[in-house]
Order: sequence, then structure tokens, then C-alpha cells
Amino acid sequence: MIEMDKLISLCKRRGFVFPGSDIYGGLANSWDYGPLGAELKKNIKDAWWDRFVRRRADMVGIDAALIMNPKVWEATGHVATFSDPLTECTKCHTRYRADQIDITAACAHCGSKGTFTPPAQFNLMLKTFLGAKEGAEAVAYFRPETAQAMFVDFKMIQETSRKRVPFGIAQVGKAFRNEITPGNFIFRTREFEQMEVEYFVKESEWAKHFETWLTELKVWLDFCGVDRTHLHFHEIEEADRAFYSKRTVDIEYQYPFGLKELYGLAYRGDYDLKCHQDKSGADLRYLDPETNEKYLPHVIEPSLGVDRTVLVVMLEAYHEEEAPTAEAGESAIRVVMKFPKALAPYKVAVLPLSKKEELSVPARQLADSLRQKWAVDYDETQSIGKRYRRQDEIGTPYCVTFDFDTLNDQAVTVRDRDSMKQERVKLSELEAYLDTQLKA
Ligand code: GAP
Repeated sequence: MIEMDKLISLCKRRGFVFPGSDIYGGLANSWDYGPLGAELKKNIKDAWWDRFVRRRADMVGIDAALIMNPKVWEATGHVATFSDPLTECTKCHTRYRADQIDITAACAHCGSKGTFTPPAQFNLMLKTFLGAKEGAEAVAYFRPETAQAMFVDFKMIQETSRKRVPFGIAQVGKAFRNEITPGNFIFRTREFEQMEVEYFVKESEWAKHFETWLTELKVWLDFCGVDRTHLHFHEIEEADRAFYSKRTVDIEYQYPFGLKELYGLAYRGDYDLKCHQDKSGADLRYLDPETNEKYLPHVIEPSLGVDRTVLVVMLEAYHEEEAPTAEAGESAIRVVMKFPKALAPYKVAVLPLSKKEELSVPARQLADSLRQKWAVDYDETQSIGKRYRRQDEIGTPYCVTFDFDTLNDQAVTVRDRDSMKQERVKLSELEAYLDTQLKA
């Protein structure tokens, strides 16, 4: 598997992901998605929304406020207990998660032994103040997960959408956690995005729906181009599960830095709705129109990190291959990002063989016309070989070369990213050709 340094360097060089606040010396563990990263991330979120919201009759989506009434987080127990054990080396003041190191061993940063403080719970909620005063009554929290608004708004969503159990609510958006040890590029950050579903079911049917969601997640990961042998479906033991959960599966991925969580799938019972009903006093029960029974539905929660999806899609897409160069009989290593076509930032690149106006003017027009349908790059600088390599590195599935013959035969050369095979296609058939290829 590719080393992280190589991926981070490609991300910076090609404009996928940059270090945040770079010109001010950066901000530790903050990252900005550049033009290609933003496209890739958006394609992932759009594909997820399309698959799990738009194309399903049993799903609706919401876009809730990031900052909620602090009572929400008191009700769920986040304010009191959403914490990790923290220890600090008293010599160099490096902080660690006490559950991730051996505190009797030497500090990995300065090498001192016996210098760790006893572990203390550190709350991960990111605090802010609302309004002009900064007193205790103005304290608010950035949401640590997108999930809660789907419970807090459950009644309004169910009544306005008139969905019947079983049905689900989905949300995509930012979440914030004051992580003790962020790191490993975009794997663990303090600001990140989630794509979550709360799927409401009858208690007696939870196990069946859990299985269905597990299958859905596997199919989604296939779509993202993830090799199943790089995944591990970790059934969480009863002792390690939340007390309200009868089944939780951590979907883990073999990252270059180890086997770690990618997504979570949890059966949450009626824990969240019950907490909010008890603490708010609102009746959150669902009225079954067939039986007239009123009850709190139980919940299956597939919880996906957007940034971890971007990371895994990039790790899976990265390939280094021996490929022939323009010099006869010679070859060199080419780096190619074999993104699933639906996720690739650019779908097509238009490359005129020469910068001369007789080619560049119609080639630009071609790019503009294709751009009405797909994300299209246009590049007329450097040799055609170098331009192909650049498009390979950013994962563009098709390069369309506009050459001098095009002016006579009204045809272009289309190069396939993965096979590097080239085909002559008539301009009049190009759009239909690309359409078929991109859907293949
Ligand atoms: N509502 C349940 C929930 O939030 P979680 O396991 O704490 O569960 C779900 O988070 C997913 O969100 C994780 O599997 C991961 O993909 C992503 N995630 C969590 N913390 C993250 C962080 N600090 N940085 C990036 N992604 C994170």
C-alpha cells in the first residue's frame, strides 16, 4: 500500500488537500480541500445522498443547525461524559490519549520515563459563546455528530413527510470534536464531516434492518472502489458496546498507519428518542396509523465520516505502474489515480496538440460544450505525454486530444486512463461515446 507521505505530497502538488492556514505557519491538523479535493468530496457526498435519500421512498434528508440548544447535549450525556482519558508528559508537555499508550513506558516525544500524569477525563465538546456576553449562560457547543438533530426534530420530520416506520432520516454536515490526538492527515481532525442515517424501526424488526444496512454499507464501499480484503467488520463485544446497543459493528480499514475505524453501524434502541422525550417533556412517540399504537421507534445508525471516505477512496485509487514513454522502447513509472469514474474530480480533459489558434480555438469550444454536462479540464501547456501524466495523476478517466487531423476528419483521439488505449471518435459522436464510457 502507498505510504502516507506520498499521498500527502500528491494531494498538495495537485490541489486535492492543502495544509490549513499555510501562509501563517499552518494550524496543526487542519486541512483545506483544494479545487480537486472539493470536487472529489462533493462527488462522494452527492453519490451518498443520491443513493440513500433521493432514490429511496423510505428516506428523507435534513440540513439542521450546527449549534443546538445546549440542553440537547446535556440530555444525551455528551456534556457530562463525551470524553477521552488524557495524560501528559510532565517533562515535554506532550499530551496523549491514555487508552492508546502504555503510561508506564517512555514518552515517545522526549524519551522520559515515569513522567506521565494520572489519566484524567477530557471532554471533547467544542465550546463557544453565543451573543455579546461570555458568561456561563452564553455557553453553546458545536455539534460533535450530525445525529442528534434527526432525533430532536423526529416528530416534525415524521409528521411533515408523512413517512411510516420503517423509514430513515439522513444528514450530511460538519461536526466538531476537541480531539486530544488528531493526526494521520485527514483521518482524525477536530473539524470533519459526517454522512449519517437514523433509521427508525419496530423494536421486533431491528436485527433484520441491521443486516440490511450492513449489506448497504458493503455495496457502498464497492461503489467507492474499496477492495473488500482491505476491510474488517469488527463485531463489538458486549462489554465494549454502549449499554443501550445490542449490536455494533465497526467497519475498519487497513490504512498505511494500521487497521482503524472507517465507519460505524450501531443499533441504538430507543435510547436517543427516550432521552430527548424525558428531558424536553415533548411526546416523541410515533402513532402507528394501522394499529393506533403509540411507541418510540428503535434506531439503526450507519455513521460515515466523509473525510475518511475521501482518504480511503484516494488510498485505493493510487497506483504506480510501468508505462511506455514517448521514446520508443522506453518506459517509466506513471502514477495514476484510478478513481471510480463517478467520483473522479474531472471526467474529461481536452488537450489540443498545439497551442496554435487553429487548434486551440475549436478545442476550447469543444471543452466549453462538454463542460455543460461534465467537469472538464482544458490544458494546452507542455508536451502531450506530460499532459497525459498530469491527468493520470488527478484521475481523469478520459483525455480528448484535438490534433491537426481533427480539422479535416472531424474526429478526436480519446485516451482511456486505465488501459491507456486510444480510440478515434467522430466529434459528432463524442458526447454519446463519453456518456456510455463514463456510465460503464
Ligand atoms: N453518531 C455516531 C457517531 O458519531 P462515531 O463513531 O463517533 O459515531 C462516526 O463517528 C464516524 O465519524 C467515524 O466512523 C468516522 O468516520 C467519523 N469521525 C469521527 N470522529 C472523527 C474525527 N475526529 N475526524 C474525522 N472523522 C471522524
